[in-house]
Amino acid sequence: MNLLSQIESAAAASSLARGAMEFDKSLATVAYVAAAVLFIFSLGGLSHQESARRGNLFGMIGMAIAVLATVFGYMHGGYWLTVAAIVPAAVIGAVLAARVPMTGMPELVAMLHSFVGLAAVLVGFSSYIDDATHAMAGQRLVHLLEVYLGVFIGAVTFTGSIVAFLKLRGSISGKPLLLPARHVLNAIMLLVCVGLGIWFCSAESVASGIMPLGVMTIIASLVGIHIVVAIGGADMPVVVSMLNSYSGWAAAAAGFMLKNHLLIVTGALVGSSGAILSYIMCAAMNRSFISVILGGFGTSGGNSSRQVDGTIKEFTIDETVDLLLEAKSIVIVPGYGMAVAQAQHALADVVKLLREKGKEVRFAIHPVAGRLPGHMNVLLAEANVPYDIVLEMDEINDDLPNTDVVLVIGANDIVNPAAEEDPDSPIAGMPVIQVWKAKTVIVMKRGMATGYAGVDNPLFYKDNTRMLFGDAKASVDGILARLRERLGS
Ligand code: TAP
Repeated sequence: MNLLSQIESAAAASSLARGAMEFDKSLATVAYVAAAVLFIFSLGGLSHQESARRGNLFGMIGMAIAVLATVFGYMHGGYWLTVAAIVPAAVIGAVLAARVPMTGMPELVAMLHSFVGLAAVLVGFSSYIDDATHAMAGQRLVHLLEVYLGVFIGAVTFTGSIVAFLKLRGSISGKPLLLPARHVLNAIMLLVCVGLGIWFCSAESVASGIMPLGVMTIIASLVGIHIVVAIGGADMPVVVSMLNSYSGWAAAAAGFMLKNHLLIVTGALVGSSGAILSYIMCAAMNRSFISVILGGFGTSGGNSSRQVDGTIKEFTIDETVDLLLEAKSIVIVPGYGMAVAQAQHALADVVKLLREKGKEVRFAIHPVAGRLPGHMNVLLAEANVPYDIVLEMDEINDDLPNTDVVLVIGANDIVNPAAEEDPDSPIAGMPVIQVWKAKTVIVMKRGMATGYAGVDNPLFYKDNTRMLFGDAKASVDGILARLRERLGS
C-alpha cells in the first residue's frame, strides 16, 4: 500500500469514527430528551399519593437513561474509571437509603443536597483550571460568570445543607442563632463576593484568578452557615425545601459549565419545584418567603419568656376507651411521635373498629407534621387508612368545635395554641390545628417534653385536655385491645 492510500484509508477511518461519534451524540441527545420528559412526569406523579409510586419509577428510569446516555454518548474511553466511581457510590447510596428510618429522611435529603453543592463547587474549579475553556475567547466572560455563580451557589448549598443536617439530627440546637447585625454582615459578605467577582473576571490567567475564586468560596461557605443557623426549629421544613431548590440551581450551573443540557434542564426542574414547594410551605406556615430565604430577615426570631403553668389531668387507657365509645365524632391528629413509635398500623385497626361502630372518624393533617412534607400521609397510606378520611388542616379546623373527641398522637408544635395566643412565641403566626376547640382533647405522649421548636405547650393545661402518657404504640395497642374486649370482636 503506498503512502497516499494509507493516508486515504486513515482519513476514511477517522471520518467513520467521527461519524460514529456524531451518531452517538445524536442518540444521546434523543435519550436526554426522553429522560427530561420522564423527569417531568416524575414530578407530576409525586404530587399525588395515588400516583407517587409511578412518579418515583419514572424518575428512576429517567435517571438510568441519563447516566447510560452520558457514558455511551459523550464519553470516549475512561469507562472503568466511571464504573469504579459509580458502583461503590450506588452501593453506599442503596444501603443508606434502605437503612434510614422514615423519621431520618429529612437528614438524608439535607446530606444529599450538600453533595450536589459540593459537586457544583468541584466542577466549577476543575472547569476553571481546565485551560481549554480559556481558549474560547468570545465566550470567556460568559464562562467565567458561569463558573463564579456556580461555585457561589454550590458553596452556599454545601455548608447550608450540612448545618441543616446537623440541626435535623439534633447534633446542634434547633433554636435560631442570631448574631448581632446579622443582616449587615450578610450584606457585607455579598458585596465582598461581588467585588471578588469583578477581580476574578478581569484576571489574565488561571494563576491570578484562582485567588479571588478561592476567597469567594470561603465567604460563600460562611454565608451558607450563617443563613441556616439563623433559622428556627419550626421553620426548618422550609429551609430543607429551600436548600433543595438551591441544589437544583447549583446543578443547573454545573450543567452550564459542562455544556450538558440535561443537567441544565434537570437542575432547573429541581430548582423551580423546590422554590414552589418552599413558597407553598411558607404560605401554609404564615411566614414571609423572602424572610426565610434570607435567613429570618425581618423577624426577631421570637423569644417568649411567657411561663406555661397549671395542672394537668391524666387519663388512663380505660377512660380513653370509654370516651371514644361515647363519642359520635372523633378527629385524630398524628405527629412526629406517631412516626417514631410506628403506631400507624395499630391506629388504623382502632379506626376500623370505631367506624364499624358507626362513629365519624377523621384524620387532621398539618402541612409540617412530622419531619418531612407529606410524612403523615405516607404513614397513613402505608397502614391502608382510606384517603377520604384524611383531611388537611384547613379542611378540618372549622369542624373542631363540633367534634366530641380529638386524639393527639405524638404531636406537639402543630397543636400549640401559643402560635395564636402569644405574639412573642417563636411559632407566633404559624397556623395550627385548633384541637382545644373540641369538647375533649386527649394528648398521647411520653412525658411533658417540648416538640421540635422547643416551645412549651399551654394545650396540656387546658380544662378540656387529658394527658395519656406512654409510648404512642403501647398506648394505641392498649386502646385496641380494650376496644376489642369491649366490642367483643
Ligand atoms: P413535634 O412538635 O416535634 O412533637 C412531637 C412530640 O412527640 C414530642 O413532644 C414528643 O414528646 C412526642 N413523642 C416522641 N416520641 C414519642 C413516642 N414514641 N410516643 C409518643 N410520643 C412521642 O412534632 P409535630 O407536632 O409533628 O410537629 C412537627 C415539628 O417538626 C414542627 O415544629 C415542624 O416545623 C418541624 N419540622 C417539620 C418538618 C416537616 S417538613 N414536616 C421538617 C423539619 C422540622 P415526648 O418526648 O414527651 O413523648
